[in-house]
Amino acid sequence: MTSLPFTLRWGILATGGIATTFTKDLLIDPETRSAGDIRHVIAAAASSTSASRARDFLSSVNAPSSSKAYGSYKELVQDKDVDIVYVATPHSHHYQHTRLALEAGKHVLVEKPITVNAQQCAKLRQLAQEKNKFLMEAVWTRFFPLSREICNLIQNGSLGNIVRVYADFSFWNDVPTEFDTQHRMINPELAGGALLDLGIYSLTWVFMALYHTQQQQEPATAVKKREEPVVSSAVTKYETTGVDQTTTVLLHFPSTGAHGVASTSIQVATTPNPAHASPDAIRIQGTLGDLTVNYAPRPRTYTLIPAGNEKRGQPAPFAYQVVTKHEDIPGGGHGMFWEADECARCIRDGKLESGVCGLEETEVVMRVMDQVRRQGGVVYPEGIESLEFPLGGFGL
Ligand SMILES: NC(=O)c1ccc[n+]([C@@H]2O[C@H](COP(=O)([O-])OP(=O)(O)OC[C@H]3O[C@@H](n4cnc5c(N)ncnc54)[C@H](OP(=O)(O)O)[C@@H]3O)[C@@H](O)[C@H]2O)c1
Repeated sequence: MTSLPFTLRWGILATGGIATTFTKDLLIDPETRSAGDIRHVIAAAASSTSASRARDFLSSVNAPSSSKAYGSYKELVQDKDVDIVYVATPHSHHYQHTRLALEAGKHVLVEKPITVNAQQCAKLRQLAQEKNKFLMEAVWTRFFPLSREICNLIQNGSLGNIVRVYADFSFWNDVPTEFDTQHRMINPELAGGALLDLGIYSLTWVFMALYHTQQQQEPATAVKKREEPVVSSAVTKYETTGVDQTTTVLLHFPSTGAHGVASTSIQVATTPNPAHASPDAIRIQGTLGDLTVNYAPRPRTYTLIPAGNEKRGQPAPFAYQVVTKHEDIPGGGHGMFWEADECARCIRDGKLESGVCGLEETEVVMRVMDQVRRQGGVVYPEGIESLEFPLGGFGL
């Protein structure tokens, strides 16, 4: 006898660009990606502006007519038909809006970066535990089957010891000039800057290769803490607003000696011209060979390059190959449904955190970004760095 799929009922908090992409992905039949054990329902959406804007949003994504439209975030989090809230406001607002949803007793998936700083992240983590609710940062990249496969290759030693990782995510296509100071990516009031918006993907790849995959002891023994990196960085800021436009972070893991270089910019691009794709936005270098990945946030192809290791006497356990997975994302989607499926399965199984994108690692990444901002002198307004809740000016 086959059991019924587990149904997760979503409330979409905000109606901007990524909320649209994510919600469209939620509406794709999970069977198209062999995920028949779960089902997603759009229970409601809310706009801080008006209920009619939320209604227009729901129509634009072809949500079912049963989905409710709210003109405030407060109403959304009170809805008894909502199990999980997807927070898709600018990062400056993530702490306030995630807290709003957790305080109301909802599970939360919150867009990246989870918060503006590590102490806000720690507070949300503590609150989610107290409330017995699931909480995850929406780093969708980690849930691509290709990313899972790469982590397995690293963990099972196929690449040997990982010595160095380069990861870049830079683009300027959608970013206006430095004088367009109200734009979300440049405006300090919205926690703008390359690091928090794009650099988090570069850091994600360094973390997947050098932190996530660190061997932990069996749960039966005391859990070994993973080693945090030593951080140094260079930051170039916009003169107009003081947020970072180009940032490079060097992460050093002392016990293995591994180096990670995570770079980001909104002045130049990883792929400056679509006619000339970069096959190696990410380069993971092990003693048995290299693995390169084509595109940081939405990886579709990786290449294995065995080292010519005759002198070391250790041949790589793989031949040169280009591995393409999901060139066409299943169901015509964007690839955000894999993280949504993880939320559904964790909640179904009573887990408060994901093993793929857990809050301990999220908090360490936030601590790295805090250090980089301190080193580069990127300062945001007090209100958006605050732990205080609720604060005025956040549509609460
Ligand atoms: N995972 C990804 O690939 C990805 C891609 C892009 C962005 N993101 C993340 O998603 C978040 C939102 O980005 P986005 O590109 O969707 O931004 P966006 O298009 O500007 O949308 C943000 C939405 O937040 C709401 N909002 C509430 N208060 C706001 C304020 N003071 N200023 C601006 N908007 C406000 C608005 O919706 P209402 O008026 O309806 O309330 C607005 O439509 C960011 O944290 C970003 O890092 C993730």
